[in-house]
Amino acid sequence: MDSSLPWKKVVALTGILIQILCLCTLVESSPSLFDRIISLPGQPQVGFEQYSGYVTVDEKKQRALFYYFAEAEIDPTLKPLVLWLNGGPGCSSLGVGAFSENGPFRPSGEKLVRNEHSWNREANMLYLETPIGVGFSYSSDTSSYEGVDDKITARDNLVFLQRWFDKFPQYRNRSLYITGESYAGHYVPQLAELMLLFNKKEKLFNLKGIALGNPVLEFATDFNSRAEFFWSHGLISDTTYTMFTSFCNYSRYVSEYYRGSVSPICSRVMGQVSRETSRFVDKYDVTLDVCISSVLSQSKVLAPKQDGDTIDVCVEDETVNYLNRKDVQMALHAQLVGVRRWAVCSNILDYELLNLEIPTITIVQKLIKAGIPVLVYSGDQDSVIPLTGSRKLVNGLAKELGLRTTVPYRVWFEGQQVGGWTQVYGDILSFATIRGASHEAPFSQPERSLVLFKAFLGGLPLPEAF
Ligand SMILES: *[C@@H]1O[C@H](CO)[C@@H](O)[C@H](O)[C@H]1NC(C)=O
Ligand SMILES: *[C@@H]1O[C@H](CO)[C@@H](O)[C@H](O)[C@H]1NC(C)=O
Repeated sequence: MDSSLPWKKVVALTGILIQILCLCTLVESSPSLFDRIISLPGQPQVGFEQYSGYVTVDEKKQRALFYYFAEAEIDPTLKPLVLWLNGGPGCSSLGVGAFSENGPFRPSGEKLVRNEHSWNREANMLYLETPIGVGFSYSSDTSSYEGVDDKITARDNLVFLQRWFDKFPQYRNRSLYITGESYAGHYVPQLAELMLLFNKKEKLFNLKGIALGNPVLEFATDFNSRAEFFWSHGLISDTTYTMFTSFCNYSRYVSEYYRGSVSPICSRVMGQVSRETSRFVDKYDVTLDVCISSVLSQSKVLAPKQDGDTIDVCVEDETVNYLNRKDVQMALHAQLVGVRRWAVCSNILDYELLNLEIPTITIVQKLIKAGIPVLVYSGDQDSVIPLTGSRKLVNGLAKELGLRTTVPYRVWFEGQQVGGWTQVYGDILSFATIRGASHEAPFSQPERSLVLFKAFLGGLPLPEAF
């Protein structure tokens, strides 16, 4: 030891060394440290922790997925881990799921307001922007955005979760549920199937159930229930309904459209359907007002607000503004790579859209056979994936599996009102509607959605009385 070293310096050096050592142990025991959100700009004070950041799923092409994680409000260590995925394909679970549907906050002007019916009351909620090219998720190699499909997405999602557990080892063996809506009717079962496969080598995923909201499970059944929904809700005339069911149905139109050659008859039928339904009706909730500024983004028409209107139909615009703020992106540890702005649905992702036609109801069948409980729920005002198609698919699946009805078709309650209808088969496959809910059910019916979510996690039947 150099005895000429002044005493003070030695002390200072030792101090630095101790600090470095402490930091190292901290990082080692809690690698999530750097992803911890201190506070989101404009957020009210809360008692739970939030984290966000990146998980690299492919070092070579520098593909990284962005997540936002809101721990449960009370007793996070005792609550399950729930992954939430939005669909599209190509739409953001952060912007849609977390900030418009079931996350702890919703943007309102410069501020964030509490969502009193946030799903993190019941679970630790993990929102993933997937696949790459969605929201803040990126690839440094832009050719990676071409031809992304269900297979790539499922594999990336699996790798994401595996590596996310390295950041959050305390969640590794936690009860895990995968939830999502719309095109997540593909993502969720496909990811669950990969997990079960992975578990055969190494039991990593403690998968306890999946829940699918207004999901695409079987393209033709789901899409062809649209005509009747339009017709029975008065959105199209009797004549148009006949054309839409006999001359060209919706699955045929979509199938032609994605192959780049729409037949004259389908073009005529769809033209008439569009004229009658009008673009001023939200197809994701035929009873809800539209956000005029979104529909007519070029003009400045103000929608007169009705009294007692508690739902902000322009929440999507608010989210776009909020997530494009530099201070918000800093707080989230997010960066824009290869895009100038954060968007609700990706403009750069070139998804293999014909994957839409891959049935995933068959995967759901496998999951049930493997003992994984499944809930399919429908916001009953959605015309995009109407409840009738989902109900028919679930009913058909129950028959195929030979599952007997364990809860007969009946109403369920939230408060003193009917929250929707439900039926359960073999105590493992459940169907439920959410009355008055849109495609994004937790957005338009937050209370009812939370009751449904709680029952799902508890493996309990929905409230039969009040
Ligand atoms: C994981 O949790 C299950 C209970 O859900 C338990 O039986 C199992 O032993 C746990 N495994 C590990 C590795 O902790
Ligand atoms: C939809 O149209 C296709 C092609 O014409 C046909 O094969 C299918 O049976 C139709 N489905 C329904 C539900 O009408």
